Amino acid sequence: MDASEHKSTNPLIARGARTISDIVDARLNRRGFLGGLGATSGLLMTGCATNAAEATEAQSDDPAFVFEEIARGMDQTHHVPDGYTADLVIRWGDPLFDDSPAFDPMTQNEATQLKQFGYNNDYLGFVPLPDRDDGAARGLLCANHEYVSTLLMQPGVAANYPASMTREKCLTEMAAHGGSVVELVYTNEGWAPVIGSPYNRRITAHATPMTVSGPAAGSDRLKTTEDPDGRTVAGTMNNCAGGITPWGTWLMAEENVNGNFLGELEEGHPETANHKRFGVPGGWYQWGRHFDRYNVGKEPNEPNRFGWVVEVDPMDPSSTPKKRTALGRFKHEGAESVVAPSGQVVIYMGDDQRFDYVYKFVSAGRVDPDNRAANLELLDDGTLYVARFDEDGYVEWMPLVFGEGLLTPENGFNSQADVLIETRIAADLLGATPMDRPEDVEPDPRTGKVWVMLTNNNRRTDDEADAANPRADNRFGHIIEITEPDGDFTATQSRWEILVRCGDPNVAEIGATWNLLTSDNGWYGSPDNCALDPSGRLWIATDGNESTGAADGVWAMETTGDGRATGKAFFRAPIGAEVCGPRFTEDGATLFVAVQHPGDGDGATFENPTTRWPDFDEAMPPRPSVLAIRKIGGGPIAS
Ligand code: FEO
Ligand code: CA
Ligand code: CA
Repeated sequence: MDASEHKSTNPLIARGARTISDIVDARLNRRGFLGGLGATSGLLMTGCATNAAEATEAQSDDPAFVFEEIARGMDQTHHVPDGYTADLVIRWGDPLFDDSPAFDPMTQNEATQLKQFGYNNDYLGFVPLPDRDDGAARGLLCANHEYVSTLLMQPGVAANYPASMTREKCLTEMAAHGGSVVELVYTNEGWAPVIGSPYNRRITAHATPMTVSGPAAGSDRLKTTEDPDGRTVAGTMNNCAGGITPWGTWLMAEENVNGNFLGELEEGHPETANHKRFGVPGGWYQWGRHFDRYNVGKEPNEPNRFGWVVEVDPMDPSSTPKKRTALGRFKHEGAESVVAPSGQVVIYMGDDQRFDYVYKFVSAGRVDPDNRAANLELLDDGTLYVARFDEDGYVEWMPLVFGEGLLTPENGFNSQADVLIETRIAADLLGATPMDRPEDVEPDPRTGKVWVMLTNNNRRTDDEADAANPRADNRFGHIIEITEPDGDFTATQSRWEILVRCGDPNVAEIGATWNLLTSDNGWYGSPDNCALDPSGRLWIATDGNESTGAADGVWAMETTGDGRATGKAFFRAPIGAEVCGPRFTEDGATLFVAVQHPGDGDGATFENPTTRWPDFDEAMPPRPSVLAIRKIGGGPIAS
């Protein structure tokens, strides 16, 4: 539906008789269960309203977003509205441990990087901890380090690339990938890392052992020279967005893992079609020149060990992360979860590629608020569904189950492991709807709504336009609203409509559909990551708004009432950067944002970046960093 035609003033839906209130009530006293390292019970229900009545009341009382909108533009630094401040929380290269070396970009290497915050921060999770003895608020920041910008990060490599990429420099890159757990504390100066906290942890692409769990564990197709059992992988990479589960674990979504492989499969190799569908080898990095595992000619199964969702327990820094194969293998963008009225956990996921799909996973078991150890096993057993968006406004969620429908030996599937390793090909067979690059997919437990970011797709032709992806050459993306019936997130049939078609509303050919209340600063292009604040209001971060002539940033987005489909500019990134990980604290008073690849641009290098944000020191390259945005004087960001 065209957003300007939308007349609904109360799109909130009633929840079914079985709400999650019992679970929420039972849960917690957060202080009671997140009491220390290795806490073993409890749920974390950040931002959950307990029932529909409460949610409706909260939502209808919200005034319009009251901050003073910032101006479109693009320059070397970031911007927040008057009356707000942005703390620089942590930068690439900042120390995490007592023995972390000081950051020196000229001598950065594997050993130094393993002790420091990684590169290109993307997803941000925040797991609250009990207040410090002096009353200061604390929490664990869980940050993904999606990828490295080789030419911006490493001095002296641009001139003779790729020959300049020595084995040592590749190891530095691997150490900069992955994720970080960092304890943060809030003081009068704002949020700051606690260097040497026992929770602090680096997870990397090569030095962190992971267990493969779920139906594909032990598959012959996951076995390699280093791991003849197909059950242990060294590392995780391309961790894009993610999620925090209701039991307080961190899901890291492996996205463009194809880019880390080089080489060629031998003619007729059985993995040929699988690797082709995934774009393996992508050849973006030089690791395969020095390490056999990243050369598909030498280790043809290694790519099958990436492209999963990894579950990490940030409360236990000695825990082994698990690759949860039941959630499928594709270019995972995010993994945001919600507890359905039945008690099952549902995880929404996008596969970020042009013409790829939207998925959800529904656990077989139920979340037990009194048994965190049991919850830690929930993601190995359940049903993965892929979405078909029909013209009549319904979404059909189609199960990807071996032996059902076309997922049989006649079509090359001999087990559920095969279905999961080749999730994309299985979804192709079921007739899923090819979308315009699905990025974050965010459920709202208060309303049964699910927000789907579709970033753009400049390859869709007129013939390929459909109801859910209505624009050919969709350079600016759109946002879809799914409504799960009666708030039942496990449903296999849902409703959908388009919230907004993005881009410049002043250019008729673009076909944008903003609410007329949207100012010239309030529209944007390429929605990517998103967040819900504690009152359920939607905030959008962009990746690619520079194609409209202005920097990427964060926009507040009205989704209800007469203001529905109105954008309002809140944060602007420095040139070259996209904005990732928007994440509110439980009180709504802090919005963490990840500024990723600042200083990037055509021809940008370590020696010649487009900005030296955030240090603005000629001796320092630009540094991907996390900011904490707050209102001066405190209080919820939105109002
Ligand atoms: Fe890593 Fe799809 O953004
Ligand atoms: Ca993203
Ligand atoms: Ca992105």
